[in-house]
Order: sequence, then C-alpha cells, then structure tokens
Amino acid sequence: MKRILVTGAFGLVGSDLVAELQKKHGSDNVIALGRQTIDSNFQGILEQGDVRDYAAMEALVKKYDVGTIYHLAGLLSVGGEKQPDLAWDVNVNGLKNILDLAKAYQIKVFWPSSIAAFGPTTPKQNVPQHTSLEPSTIYGVSKVTGELLCQYYFRRYGVDVRSLRYPGLNGYKAAPGDGTTEYAIHIFYGLIENNTYECFLKEDARLPMMYMDDAIKGTIALMEAPSEKISVRTSYNFAAISFTPAELVAEIKKIAPNFQVSYKPDARQQIAESWPQTIDDSQARKDWAWQEEFDLSKMTQALYEGVKTKLAQGK
Ligand SMILES: NC(=O)c1ccc[n+]([C@@H]2O[C@H](COP(=O)([O-])OP(=O)(O)OC[C@H]3O[C@@H](n4cnc5c(N)ncnc54)[C@H](O)[C@@H]3O)[C@@H](O)[C@H]2O)c1
Repeated sequence: MKRILVTGAFGLVGSDLVAELQKKHGSDNVIALGRQTIDSNFQGILEQGDVRDYAAMEALVKKYDVGTIYHLAGLLSVGGEKQPDLAWDVNVNGLKNILDLAKAYQIKVFWPSSIAAFGPTTPKQNVPQHTSLEPSTIYGVSKVTGELLCQYYFRRYGVDVRSLRYPGLNGYKAAPGDGTTEYAIHIFYGLIENNTYECFLKEDARLPMMYMDDAIKGTIALMEAPSEKISVRTSYNFAAISFTPAELVAEIKKIAPNFQVSYKPDARQQIAESWPQTIDDSQARKDWAWQEEFDLSKMTQALYEGVKTKLAQGK
C-alpha cells in the first residue's frame, strides 16, 4: 500500500492518531513527522522536518511513496497570538505546501480546521454549517483561509482534501499545551498532583468539546467515506459535548469530592467568549454517519484514569 504521512505527529492529536493508524495499517506504513517535540519512546518510522520546506516534504513523499497525508502541524490559538507572523507562515504556507504536493502526487489529505474559525458575529448556539466566519485571532484567520484554500484545491485541481472543524479536544497521551480549551486536560493534572486547580476561564465559559478517541474515530471515518458522500469541502462542523468548567468540576467531584478549584480568568477568557457554545454538525452525521461515543461523564472517567496512569508511570 501507499504510505501515510502524519505531520505534527507528536502533538496532542498526532500522538493518538499515529497510534491508531499504526494499529490499522501497520507501523511500516505510517511515517511520523516531528519538528522539535519528539517522543523518545516512539516505535515506528520517524522523520524530522519543517512543513514550510516544500523540497524536504517532497523528498519524504518520494522516499516513502506517500498516498495520504494527515496534516496536523501548526500553531494553535494561544501560541498564534504570541507569534502571529509565524502562525500565518506555518498554518497557511505549510498547508499550501501540502496541497501543492497533493496536487502533484495525487495524495489524499486530511487537515483540521477549528471552532476558532468562528468569531463574535457567529451565532453562539447551534452554529450552522454555513455561517459568518469573522474570527478575532490569527489562528482563526489562518483556519478560515485554510478552509477556503482546501475547497479551492478540490474544485480547481480535484485534490481530495477533507477537513473537520475540531472543537476543544481532550486527550492525555501527549502533554497538554496552552490552548484555550485545554483547561479541561490541565485540570486532571491539578487534581491528581495536588487536589487543586486554578482555572484560566470563568466557571460559566461553555465551549464545544470532544474526547480524543471520538475525534480520532471521526477523522478516520471521514477519510474512509466514499468521495461522493463528502458534500463539504471547506470543513465540516464536528461536535460531541459542550460544557462549562463548573460542569466539569461537578463531574470530577463525583470521583474526588474534596477537589478544590478557583477561577482566575486570563486573556484566554476573551478568546473563549469569541467562540460559539454549541455546534450543529448534522451535515457530518448525514453525509458519513458521524456519531460520538463519549459524553461528559465517560470522558471524565477516561481522562482521570489516563492521566493517573501516565503520572504513575512517571511520563
Ligand atoms: N487540540 C485541539 O483541541 C484542537 C482543536 C481544534 C483544532 N486543532 C487542530 O489540530 C491540529 C493539531 O493540533 P494539536 O492540538 O495536536 O497541536 P499541538 O500543538 O499539540 O501539535 C502541533 C505540532 O505541530 C508541530 N509543528 C509546529 N510547527 C511546525 C512546522 N513548521 N513544521 C512541522 N511541525 C510543526 C509542533 O512541533 C507540534 O508538535 C492543528 O491543526 C490544530 O489547529 C486542535
């Protein structure tokens, strides 16, 4: 078979996605591309490089006979605001490199957009698939640009590129970053390490979220769906659960009744307020049968057990 290249392979999403793709297709068929963050325990084919370097990416495509790219490398909401020029360069020019390679070598591409593509003029509840996209962060601006670029490459060049607007994703395999929704992962480290957590969002900041296993399952289902089922070539609305920090804390207290949480909102609260609270993803459910498995309670159990085991193993 032609091989699968995953960029951003050692990030939060990549760590779970690479493991699942290896399970499905065999370790010899999955190439994990990292830049700086590399997992020293990684088992499989590992390459290091920068997605902005077209020649280096092309060399990888030729070396491994790549037929599919899951392009996850990028800067996120908080990192993007710290370095807007870099965020544009990596997120937009990096994606364009991947799409140009896809066009030249008939490669199928997955690239995630985000709820950050939405902005203050987007409805807050049940955001429809086609809606106002006026984001306030450079991250969101790069995602809207990327969505349009994907649709353009599909219409103009027939590139089979597929995309999901990921909500806040909660997994434990990789260390959480400083993203706006990632309080929902950090909180479990606070719980297990010292039974306290200071939350950087307000207690009523409701955001669309998803457990990582569901995100990986949905990503692979989208990529495996027959092409004629894909009616959205910008990026699909993609949702599972929506909750506030207070609701998550109430769920955690069922496991740890004495857990102490305080709230000290920082700049991420403004970012959270510019995003919607709930998303209408009926198009994804209709086109390729998207269905999540994890509700808030199941996600809380899974994250608690996952982070506890990880910390006990000293990882
Ligand atoms: N995590 C979420 O909740 C979430 C939500 C919405 C969308 N997404 C999207 O999913 C994708 C993956 O997100 P993540 O949470 O795994 O991010 P992450 O920050 O954990 O990982 C991104 C990886 O990209 C790598 N990278 C950065 N610049 C690079 C470059 N120039 N060349 C090669 N690699 C580079 C980084 O080293 C990092 O390991 C991103 O496109 C992100 O926008 C994530």
